[in-house]
Amino acid sequence: YKKMSHFPTDFLWGASSAAYQIEGAYREDGKGLSVWDKFVRIPGKTFKGTNGDVAVDHYHRFKEDVALMKEQGLKAYRFSIAWTRIFPEGKGQVNQKGINFYNRLIDELIANRIEPVVTLYHWDLPQALQDEYGGWESREIVTDFTNYAKTCFDAFGDRVNYWVSLNEQNVFISHGYQMESHPPAVNDEKRMYAANHIANLANASAIKTFHDGHYQGGIGPSFAYSPGYAVNGDPKNQVAATNYEDYAAHFWMDVYVYGRYPKMIYKWLTERGTAPVITEADRALLIAGKPDFMGLNYYQTQTIAANPLVGGVGLAAENNTGKKGTSSESGVPGMFKTTNNEFLKQTDWDWNIDPEGLRIALRRIDSRYDLPVLITENGLGAYDKLEEDHQIHDDYRIYFINEHIKAIKEAISDGVKVIGYTTWSFTDLLSWSNGYQKRYGFVYIDRDEESAKELKRYRKDSFYWYQKVIQENGQYL
Ligand code: BG6
Repeated sequence: YKKMSHFPTDFLWGASSAAYQIEGAYREDGKGLSVWDKFVRIPGKTFKGTNGDVAVDHYHRFKEDVALMKEQGLKAYRFSIAWTRIFPEGKGQVNQKGINFYNRLIDELIANRIEPVVTLYHWDLPQALQDEYGGWESREIVTDFTNYAKTCFDAFGDRVNYWVSLNEQNVFISHGYQMESHPPAVNDEKRMYAANHIANLANASAIKTFHDGHYQGGIGPSFAYSPGYAVNGDPKNQVAATNYEDYAAHFWMDVYVYGRYPKMIYKWLTERGTAPVITEADRALLIAGKPDFMGLNYYQTQTIAANPLVGGVGLAAENNTGKKGTSSESGVPGMFKTTNNEFLKQTDWDWNIDPEGLRIALRRIDSRYDLPVLITENGLGAYDKLEEDHQIHDDYRIYFINEHIKAIKEAISDGVKVIGYTTWSFTDLLSWSNGYQKRYGFVYIDRDEESAKELKRYRKDSFYWYQKVIQENGQYL
């Protein structure tokens, strides 16, 4: 019924990472400690107590890693800057050695004709700011984050065209202030929505500063969007799915783009006494900080059913962002719950595998926000096996990414403007609480929870496969 489009010739085929998950060198060259440096040391918080002290040692091996990117033919590489390398205490004196490191990395990428996509905040908040004023819970962070962002725009903005402001605000806020699985490991709804609102202000302020400064290129947040489907045509479940979209998606993306919260959720929070305080100045700032593109981190969809209150109680939320959910049920009493989808299979970590859902995510973002989309994450976390001959036959990952690229092509053919696709991830890396066993990369890193070994890099089968996809600009999938 429609003509299939080609990928644009300037499509950004790429891959991603984040500072804490790859760099290591956690105390080198003046770096300050982040909340993750501290959190991982709390017993029981991460798989086998793993941490990012060494990670995959990208800090010392970035040239080798960029050489591999060049060999694979990547057009773009998304990475994050560790705030604590630029400002060890989160504010105050700039640490020149931190600036130097990212200058070297960016220059190396550009020398190899790889477009840097730079994330300002991928969860590694300076511990000093957490200690001083409670991090995201204080409005002081708006100033400090903006100053940090501006320092990065000034230092690197002559060579960077794509900036990501906050990575997955919905995830770091819900995991940090509800599920207790990220720092500061709090479970308090009111504090969660207050911190979230402040993060919205910081995001808007950084974006406004970027626009006011007339730097080259564009900026946007990366949102972890897991589209919701009603489990069936029962209107009750349709209402629940509508609730889910407002609660788990529009609650963030509407604020980014339109500077306002969805009415239904805001009213519900007000009745519960957990709505954030919004001033007139806040509203003006939120409207002024409109992104140039929407960054999309897509892993899975959620299937939604009604979750009626029985005697005032309903199925409660272990995870209601939709992002990190498993196929097991969780939800918000009275509003919705997630449920199993008989049409979908799951990954080794029980995440739904749903390539078509990516097309749906792109279509929904396009029609509601009318912004170009940069897919900043998508990939498969799996156990990989290093064979004796150092090969890694990750045909499951090839299949996964291949199907998702097909879905992107469909969305482009539907008329959605997709700027690029940076998969998660380039090399294997530390999967936050899951240790090193949950692998996402095109490049295998020979290390495990017990030992960093020699941290040798090996190309997986998917490395060569994606190399070919890029060469052919996604034409033969
Ligand atoms: C996203 C993050 O949540 O998904 C990444 O931005 C993360 O940092 C990725 O690693 C995969 O999640 P996980 O828990 O499997 O590592």
